[in-house]
Amino acid sequence: MQLRKENILIVDDDINILELLQRHLQSWDYHSFKAVSVKEAVAILRDTKIDLLITDLRMPEIDGFELIKFVSEHYPGLPKLMVTGYPSVQDSLTAIKSGVVGYLTKPFTKAELKSAIAASLAASEKEIAPSSKPSAAKNEAYGDIIGASEKIRDVIQIIERVKNNKATVFIKGESGTGKELVARAIHYQGQFSRAPFIAVNCGAIPENLLESELFGYVKGAFTGADTNRNGFFQAADGGSIFLDEIGNASLAVQSRLLRVLQEKEVIKVGATKSEPVDVRIIAATNSDLGDMIQKKSFREDLFYRLTVVEIEVAPLRQRKDDIVPLVNKFLFKYGVEYKDRYVKIAPEVMAILKRYDWPGNIRELENIIQRAVIMCDKIIELEHLPDHLKYKLKLSSDVLLPLKDIERQYIEKVLRATGNNKTKAAEILQIDRKTIRQKLAE
Ligand SMILES: Nc1ncnc2c1ncn2[C@@H]1O[C@H](COP(=O)(O)OP(=O)(O)OP(=O)(O)O)[C@@H](O)[C@H]1O
Ligand SMILES: [Mg+2]
Repeated sequence: MQLRKENILIVDDDINILELLQRHLQSWDYHSFKAVSVKEAVAILRDTKIDLLITDLRMPEIDGFELIKFVSEHYPGLPKLMVTGYPSVQDSLTAIKSGVVGYLTKPFTKAELKSAIAASLAASEKEIAPSSKPSAAKNEAYGDIIGASEKIRDVIQIIERVKNNKATVFIKGESGTGKELVARAIHYQGQFSRAPFIAVNCGAIPENLLESELFGYVKGAFTGADTNRNGFFQAADGGSIFLDEIGNASLAVQSRLLRVLQEKEVIKVGATKSEPVDVRIIAATNSDLGDMIQKKSFREDLFYRLTVVEIEVAPLRQRKDDIVPLVNKFLFKYGVEYKDRYVKIAPEVMAILKRYDWPGNIRELENIIQRAVIMCDKIIELEHLPDHLKYKLKLSSDVLLPLKDIERQYIEKVLRATGNNKTKAAEILQIDRKTIRQKLAE
């Protein structure tokens, strides 16, 4: 019998299951290796080139999650399929985090096993570069960040440079592009990952509270301040603080921030003495700080202090190579969460997703996949996409349209390209800002 080239390692403490799996695998011409414990599995991995790992989760001594973690670290390109008798949301989440590409619940049918194996092998083929050697630069996942585009690779390269020092980082990008994900990666991939990471949405905390929330306050600083209290900065000591929507910080907060950046110390609200803090600041915004500086609502000196290292997270429409790996990630994530199985996607739907412009970026893509997984049976078809998406695509194909529609679409495109900067857009379009507004209002 001619063996397929794929070597599959199966790990289960139940010999009967191992035998059964092996019989199935043999009937499809896969070559199988059996291990009854994680220890045995690790030994086989060391000596053999394995193409797919199928592991049980609950095993005595060391469980399947430990093995999955080990494999993710030491054999990053190796696809992992897990088999469990006790599915739980928590298990699924842990599995997704460690990059498991497939999930089977006992008891499963032979057909289910076959398609899970095929999906896992196929997903990994797409995910890794042709040579199966793991390489940080080529790999499509970096922590939780998925992406195959050059733009994402550039972002990852900067993260690599800053993760182990405490340089201030400024992250710019449209809503839903993954700014917070990047901030977390900077913290968690680096050497300070065991210290706290504190995320503060400056836009969500009322302006009059932000100052005391961030820097703390002393007893008597204001009505209701009946004890001394630490703020987020003190809580993040030794680690990182993520200041999201930094454009929403008041001038009072800004001047305190400047002090932290310059002197590495904070003064609690109402206090006279400062205290040292050792915190890396990561700030983010999707608003135009340049504009705010001109209007004097953002301090220029703070801006320069914050932007020591700048990371620009490009909108999804400028890095369409990321769409397929992102779709696959979300398919798996929600497939497991709602269906307890990996849901497939029809090729024509994938083609549409690749053509769409994604104004809401990755968040929008994730929502659409989440919804589609809920709506579909086993395969996501056209009908599972929301109407506006189908409608938009009809427009972009060869349907003929009135001039004003085209004009409007083009104006919107230029606005997007300029980050909604009407002055710039007016310059490009050679019309004035008022006309832009009028045409959009029409
Ligand atoms: N490269 C990526 N890989 C995987 N998931 C991603 C990626 N980028 C973004 N996401 C997911 O998309 C969602 C939005 O990302 P995130 O919250 O980081 O965006 P954001 O830029 O901070 O948006 P906002 O400006 O609206 O706060 C999150 O659920 C995040 O996990
Ligand atoms: Mg955010």
